Amino acid sequence: MSAYTIQEHEYDMVVVGAGGAGLRATFGLAAKGLKTVCITKVFPTRSHTVAAQGGISAALGNMGEDDWRYHFFDTIKGSDWLGDQDAIEYMCKEAPAAIIELEHYGVPFSRTEDGKIYQRPFGGMTTRYGEGPAAQRTCAAADRTGHAMLHTLYQQSLAHDARFMIEYFALDLIWDDEGVCRGVLALDMAEGTLHLFRGHGVVLATGGYGRAYFSATSAHTCTGDGGGLVLRSGLALQDMEFVQFHPTGIYGAGCLITEGVRGEGGILRNSSGERFMERYAPHYKDLASRDVVSRSMTIEIREGRGVGAEKDHILLDLTHLGPEVIHEKLPGIAESARIFANVDVTRQPIPVLPTVHYNMGGIPTNYHGEVVQKVGENPDQVVQGLYAIGEAACVSVHGANRLGSNSLLDLVVFGRAAANRCAQTIKPGASHKVLPASACDKALANLDKLRNANGASPTAEIRLNMQRTMQSDAAVFRTSKTLSEGCEKMAKIFTSFEDVKVSDRSLVWNSDLIETYELQNLLYNAVATITSAEQRKESRGAHAHEDFPDRDDANWQKHTLVKVDGKGASSFDFRPVHMYTLSDDVGVVPPKKRVY
Ligand code: FUM
Repeated sequence: MSAYTIQEHEYDMVVVGAGGAGLRATFGLAAKGLKTVCITKVFPTRSHTVAAQGGISAALGNMGEDDWRYHFFDTIKGSDWLGDQDAIEYMCKEAPAAIIELEHYGVPFSRTEDGKIYQRPFGGMTTRYGEGPAAQRTCAAADRTGHAMLHTLYQQSLAHDARFMIEYFALDLIWDDEGVCRGVLALDMAEGTLHLFRGHGVVLATGGYGRAYFSATSAHTCTGDGGGLVLRSGLALQDMEFVQFHPTGIYGAGCLITEGVRGEGGILRNSSGERFMERYAPHYKDLASRDVVSRSMTIEIREGRGVGAEKDHILLDLTHLGPEVIHEKLPGIAESARIFANVDVTRQPIPVLPTVHYNMGGIPTNYHGEVVQKVGENPDQVVQGLYAIGEAACVSVHGANRLGSNSLLDLVVFGRAAANRCAQTIKPGASHKVLPASACDKALANLDKLRNANGASPTAEIRLNMQRTMQSDAAVFRTSKTLSEGCEKMAKIFTSFEDVKVSDRSLVWNSDLIETYELQNLLYNAVATITSAEQRKESRGAHAHEDFPDRDDANWQKHTLVKVDGKGASSFDFRPVHMYTLSDDVGVVPPKKRVY
């Protein structure tokens, strides 16, 4: 592969991605004295964390009774008992300190009358182990919390001695012969030059892969690059069948309307104006967890109680909240509803539909952010040199269904945990192992193949086929028929990538090439998702299988591990769910029926 010149750079740590998790890890590593580079395909403050609206959870108890143990219980219940309870304990216990840390870094949280951080109710967040009133646990900066956090975290990163490589695309992970991750090969998209970033550890913080679907709240950049790098390295991803549909994407446009709207008192209504959630979740109503609300909306539409000419969506009514609450607490969604739905939310309801929002599955890790794989009898074998955090990872704190506002928390808690772990295990300035001359060959072969791809199928056409298939066959409700048809279609679509056409052969600002790489990553993630869904014969959390409508703990309370080979064939294994805690501060929550 001598046609390509590679510039080599040596760091202690390489972070890929500059969203909330990547930035928290980046400055955490730099603060610990590790020479750190952060590679990002977009300018940091354009990362998808900027779009997070409603808030970040932590049992501060600023606005009523709360306890981190209630948060722990709610997260396990929300996960439908697929979350690892050691990791959930870690996250919920760390949450209050993480918020105070953010406050001290400068996040401009909204305030109560007496100056405390403002907290709103969110779905599935309750008190007294699900028996008390809804908890006010979600700390908010109006409805632009992610925006506020991302800017603050970037400012913190700049205050530390971390290096940013902006608009660099990570092409592949680089491994040594012993299976240790030794760095990342990346393309400087502006210059068209290739760079090997050597590190004693590589942290993948690349976000989710919402763009495998046709309608998603995710940015167009959410293409599962980390998961793609890992699958293409021959490692397994975990729990990919669990894809979250947010109940309130704007009908048609798919943009997010925060759950904070329902937290502030907004109500979902069907064609007869009925508050139908009272029938599905008598206690918490519109504030049941997201999977429950999305399924209830879908049933209303299916049974003919949807609204609009096609009776194919639902209304979110916040007219009763009054302009003052809307302008103070929900200014962002008022703007989105005006622009994307032509609605004045003070006078009209917003047309909404469940829309793909979050991937519970991802790169399996322990609660230190270390990537783990099942090796022989050991389900938790650490992969040396590789870490994953944020939505790219599957810790697993969200299990089969994530509670709203636990994602921003996950980003900062595990971004920090990974930095702390690396500081314990990596010596600043240690010398780098000499790599075999062939270390980059596979990555360069893939680059050469994609760059010169001269088939008959444009990238956009294959992408659309994938998105339509995933949207219709791996949807809110799944059946054996839709899943097996979807698997067949996705296998063909994966194969059609062999026939992809890239028109631009240069390396300088070649968006055609980058989109093709992103499509390759999406295809691996999509196949992993639909085949994992097909093999799980039960319903749990976001995986609602109509031919197997009940949760089956005896056979399926386990994590799916999936590998996808170069021909698009999946193979499966399983890891046990961690039904243990880290301390005696809290007890294991045994499975029980999940009602809201
Ligand atoms: O509805 C929202 O504001 C989204 C929050 C989340 O996904 O955590």
